[in-house]
Parts: sequence; C-alpha cells; structure tokens
Amino acid sequence: KHFRLAVIPGDGIGKEVINEGLRVLEHLSQTSNTFTFESDYFPWGCEYYLEHGKMMHEDGLNKIKNHDAIYFGAVGYPTVPDHISLWGLRLAICQGFDQWANIRPVEFLPGIEGKLNHPDKEKLNWVLVRENTEGEYSGIGGRNFTGRGPGKEVAVQSSIFTEEGCERVIRHAFELALTRDRKKVTSVTKSNAQQYGMVLWDEVFQRVSKEYPEVETDQCLVDAMAANFVLHPEDLEVVVASNLHADILSDLGSALSGSLGLAPSANLHLDGRFPSMFESVHGSAPDIAGQGIANPIGTIGSAALMLEHLGLPEEAKLINDSIRAATKDGILTADIGGNNSTKEVTDSIIAHISKM
Ligand code: NAI
Ligand code: MG
Repeated sequence: KHFRLAVIPGDGIGKEVINEGLRVLEHLSQTSNTFTFESDYFPWGCEYYLEHGKMMHEDGLNKIKNHDAIYFGAVGYPTVPDHISLWGLRLAICQGFDQWANIRPVEFLPGIEGKLNHPDKEKLNWVLVRENTEGEYSGIGGRNFTGRGPGKEVAVQSSIFTEEGCERVIRHAFELALTRDRKKVTSVTKSNAQQYGMVLWDEVFQRVSKEYPEVETDQCLVDAMAANFVLHPEDLEVVVASNLHADILSDLGSALSGSLGLAPSANLHLDGRFPSMFESVHGSAPDIAGQGIANPIGTIGSAALMLEHLGLPEEAKLINDSIRAATKDGILTADIGGNNSTKEVTDSIIAHISKM
C-alpha cells in the first residue's frame, strides 16, 4: 500500500512532535515492508497568518482534499488570537471535510504509576467519541448588534443539533462498542438544563440503542460524568458526547492517564468524500515550545490511529505496543515524571519497533 499524507505541523510543539511521528512512520515503513508513504508539507499556522493574513492558503482545502490522510501537529500561538487560529485552520478542516467523529482513546500506560494518584489506574481504558462538526462549535452567533452602548454589549453563541448529526455519531459509538471486549456505550448530555438540542440527542440515543440490544447503555449528565471519570473509571467503555462536552472531558481523561501529552485522536470523515485528520489532543504548548521536551506519545499514537484507519491494524498495534514498552522502560518526558527528551522517547519507541 502507498499513501499520500498532507502534513500540517502548525505551531509551537506541534512542529516538534509531528517530526517524531513521521520518524516512527518512516521506520515502520522500512521494517514492515507493508506500506510506503510520501508527505506533502503545508506550512500553515500563526506564522503564515502574520505573513498572509490567513491561517491557511486561500485554496487550502482543495490542496489537501485528495490526500489519503492529514497528519496535524497543533495550532495556536500568543501572536494570534486563539479563536482566529483555531477557526482558521483546525476547525476549518474538521468542518470543511465533514470529519464528524472525533475518536479519543484514554489508556493506562505502564511505567508512569508514580504519576497517577488514583487506585484504579489499570481500569483507565475507554474511548471518547466526540461529535465534531456541529453542537456548541457551530460558529453561529454574533456580537455588538444591539447598539445599547458601552458596557451593555450582548453576544449570542448558538448551538446546532441536527437529528442526522446526532444519529451518525451515536451510531458510530455503538459500532465501536461492538469491537470491544466490554460492549457498553455511555451518552453524556446536559439535557436537564439545555432542553432542546440535548433532549433531541437523548431521544436519538434511545432510538439507536434499540438497534443494538447486545450493547449495554448508560446516560449521564456531563457534570456528574466529570466526577465519574475521576471516581469510577471502571464504569466507562465507549463514551459519546457533544462537541464542547467531549472536548472538556477528553482533556480530563488524558490528565487522568498522566498527561495531556499522551492522548491521541482521530477526526474521521467516514463517508468517503474527504480525508480524515489525525492529531494529538493537546495544543501548541507555547510554555514548553522549542525546548525539545514535549511528549511525542500523543502524536505518535495518532499515527497509529491513522494506520488503523488506512487499513493497517497490525502496524498500528506495533506502534502502540512499542509506546507501552518505552514507557515501561521508564523512558519518559518531564510531564509524566521523567527527564528524557522528545527525541529520546521516539528513539526508544523506534528501537522497540525493531525488536518486535
Ligand atoms: P496546551 O494543550 O497547548 O497546553 C496545556 C498544558 O499542557 C501546558 O502546560 C503544556 O505545556 C502541557 N502540554 C500539552 N501538550 C504537551 C506535551 N505533548 N508534552 C508535555 N506537556 C504538554 O493547551 P493551552 O495552553 O490551553 O493552549 C495553547 C495553544 O494551543 C492555544 O493557542 C490553543 O488555542 C491551542 N490549542 C490547539 C489545539 C489543537 O491544535 N488541536 C487544542 C488545544 C489548544
Ligand atoms: Mg481540547
């Protein structure tokens, strides 16, 4: 198999960790002999914005729409307001390519027990399915339209929930549950307070769940779920939630597993018209950028999700097993209690790939 990847390093540590992921892919390509790939680089991000007044090329989506996948670092830097950088690049791609399912697995990795202070660390093993194109991040609203004078501005930020949008992501959560040992889907909303969109979501969830009698179901309000993530991780298997709620819960989930730097994610378009995008959950981390100490595991794990999506599950497993072997050896960056560099962690993962 041969793949064409669109590589968008972005800003801050995005540029550092994406190179590590590509090093792993190159090594795996050479040792496994099952796939080859080529990378086209797109230097879009905050520096590009300062030069061109846009986060990506005007014709950006067309330039990457025929690639097999998009491999993305992170976007955002203090030089550009965050809502401009996020909407101008990451959200432009997710929404432009209808990448409606954002898959965010949370897993316990051996070797970082000391960093985790809850008793049930081995039970950290779930996957969050995030609605990725509508909901609270629909971008509908406005400011400054009342003319009521200084200090009296009103802003409106609307959410959109469509029956089709809810159904496809909820259905995907059930399909994912069927592939796991424990078949359970938990739906998270705030339908007691948000009585339109979230109630529609709940109704769709109940309707779809009837088609999957073999899957256990649970429904939970998002505030209670935040507590449940911490107190009862063993209750969770597949968790499906709206754009905003799942965004917040996924940072909590990755922090529970040790660090934001560990969490991979896939933005999937599953209808065959556009490429999917693979990126770590974390942002550009300006506070540690340029120091060579960023944790590359989230981005390397995202490469594994990419291979799985491209029909190479064994190669994906090889990457994930090698990540676990490296952390078990105690090769860790500072965010998970070690003192290894970004490159040393990748080198260790690559060495384990060679051994397996
Ligand atoms: P962040 O995820 O960049 O950083 C939060 C904290 O986690 C920081 O202390 C950082 O040092 C640490 N951290 C994150 N990734 C790490 C890694 N791989 N290794 C070690 N430590 C790591 O979130 P923050 O600071 O809220 O946002 C920074 C910028 O990133 C903003 O411009 C924001 O808009 C953007 N952002 C972009 C995202 C994306 O491209 N998908 C997602 C989240 C934020
Ligand atoms: Mg986030």
